[in-house]
Amino acid sequence: MGLVPDTANHPLSMLTAAEVERAAAICRATGKVPEGALFAHLVLAEPDKVVLAGWSPGDPIDRCVRAQIVPGPELALIEALVSVTRGEVLEWRVVEGERPTLLFTESAHAVAAVRANPEFRAALARRGITDVDNVQVDPWPAGTFGYAAEVGRRIARCISFVREYPEDNGYARPIEGLVVHVDLGRNEVIEVIDHGAVALPAQHARYFAADHEPLRSDIKPLHITQPEGPSFTVEGNLVEWQKWSVRVTFDPYEGLVLHQLAYDGRSVAHRLSMSEMVVPYGDPGEMHGFKNAFDAGEWGLGRMTQSLTLGCDCLGEIFYFDAVLGSERGRAWTITNAICMHEEDYDILWKHVDLMGGTSEVRRSRRLVISHIATVGTYEYGFYRYLSQDRTVQLEEKPTGILSVGAMEPGSTREWGNEVAPGVYAPFHQHMFCARLDLDVDGAVNRVYEVEAEVVPPGDGNPWANAFRARTTLLESETAARRVVNAATSRSWRVVNEGVHNGMGRPVGYKLIPTMSTPTLLADPSSSVGQRAGFARHNLWVTPYAPDEMRAAGDYPNQSAGGDGLPRWTAADRDLVDTDVVLWYGFGITHLPRPEDWPVMPVEYTGFLLSPVGFFDRNPALDLPPSTGGVCH
Ligand code: NI
Repeated sequence: MGLVPDTANHPLSMLTAAEVERAAAICRATGKVPEGALFAHLVLAEPDKVVLAGWSPGDPIDRCVRAQIVPGPELALIEALVSVTRGEVLEWRVVEGERPTLLFTESAHAVAAVRANPEFRAALARRGITDVDNVQVDPWPAGTFGYAAEVGRRIARCISFVREYPEDNGYARPIEGLVVHVDLGRNEVIEVIDHGAVALPAQHARYFAADHEPLRSDIKPLHITQPEGPSFTVEGNLVEWQKWSVRVTFDPYEGLVLHQLAYDGRSVAHRLSMSEMVVPYGDPGEMHGFKNAFDAGEWGLGRMTQSLTLGCDCLGEIFYFDAVLGSERGRAWTITNAICMHEEDYDILWKHVDLMGGTSEVRRSRRLVISHIATVGTYEYGFYRYLSQDRTVQLEEKPTGILSVGAMEPGSTREWGNEVAPGVYAPFHQHMFCARLDLDVDGAVNRVYEVEAEVVPPGDGNPWANAFRARTTLLESETAARRVVNAATSRSWRVVNEGVHNGMGRPVGYKLIPTMSTPTLLADPSSSVGQRAGFARHNLWVTPYAPDEMRAAGDYPNQSAGGDGLPRWTAADRDLVDTDVVLWYGFGITHLPRPEDWPVMPVEYTGFLLSPVGFFDRNPALDLPPSTGGVCH
């Protein structure tokens, strides 16, 4: 079951193919889009919260699209806002000195330019590599490291690998020591830098079934069936399930976005998205020290999303949303089956056996899963959003795929990484995510408390030295709200609406609970990535809602000088008490690669929970019926 939305019946309906192409045509009709210009993006311009709040079904909808146009190789972008409803250009702004995300068109051209380059071929020949057709060239975001090649250009640093045949896993054989700088805008190889060769590792790294015979033969079929269909309904991009309602859209950078998440008509969140992510490497050497890919802002978690396959990526009674993006040529580009949605059984939700009364009550838990998977270079990232019947929201990211590796002398040791296969070196690195959480708990006006356990000293009032209490600290302003996780005190953050009270007369709230590995950025604040990914230096940031503050590292992270995004915005130290707060939560994994991560890495998990706290007066899942016609009492 796929869905290609072709009409917009709500201001937050997904962008349609016709809207994408009309927006590009409106831009071109200005006569100010040069021949050969590329569209870095064509995205739905989401109406401001005030406009959305005032909209009712049947009201007119002014559908607007933001276009980012790359006119040529210079450092200039056009930011356009057009109304596809009215056929008008509303804004046309030239931004000097900034770079778009890496463009697919230019990256493909760069690969060809590197392969054809005589100096590159000579460096390959010095390593005994002559079959250039099977050399895999990977363009990487360049970062900012003071090379002359970076100045005034949009560049990629290209590294390379050898395949034995086209479908081979090239990462088995990294071509060590060779980095090529390419001017992406001009499609010119700027320089071929050869730091010296290391022998190619000997073993292949294939992960296909045919390479791992005999396969296990003791797996019996496991079928998930819902003979009466799933329990959710979908109308356009509005999903309703178990008293939840939510709108689903898809952004080229953020991927899956959840809007207007509400329970039984009560607002929980206005918008939940993955604002940015960065993968900084901890090896200071020339081959890996530049690796700081901003997978949202430099590549695009939506743009890199691949179509999903029933029974493989998602199992059960599946509903798929297609995603419509804009191609770099300004055409509609549909990723079919981009978003997967289904229900899954999640063990038990609650249970109690009354030993005296002889009763036993148990309820099974069911979750609604909405997910997509982006392939960003070597890694896959699964982005999973879970809604549960006890009103908990879980965001979980699942990295898998292939490590970014180099070659090393087999059996030698490296300070900055591990040998994962003979002669294959995987540097230490981090996967740092930053979710933007525009929570509106029973309305937009909220405040945020930090809550953690506080041990009380022994003495008067604590004679048994066992006491601890909950310490609650109001986060009054932006600088005070730059916080880190503290597992030892079970620190969490409670978003409260002081104007709405529960049955005990206390304000309703939702809390953000760190649940898994939650590092902060290990690179020094003075480093290039420390400046450019300042958002990753804290786990929590809180800002007052501002419609132009959407991306944690700013709108232009590619080769940025740094300092933009959360560090810059929060330096204003705006007031956070009883305003429309936005939480930014940084989490992730510090990855010390293992042999078991090779040649393809089993899924890792990282994420967090949003859980009601006093939002209800008691367990909100008491009205769940016992399963299987009452057998499961
Ligand atoms: Ni990793």
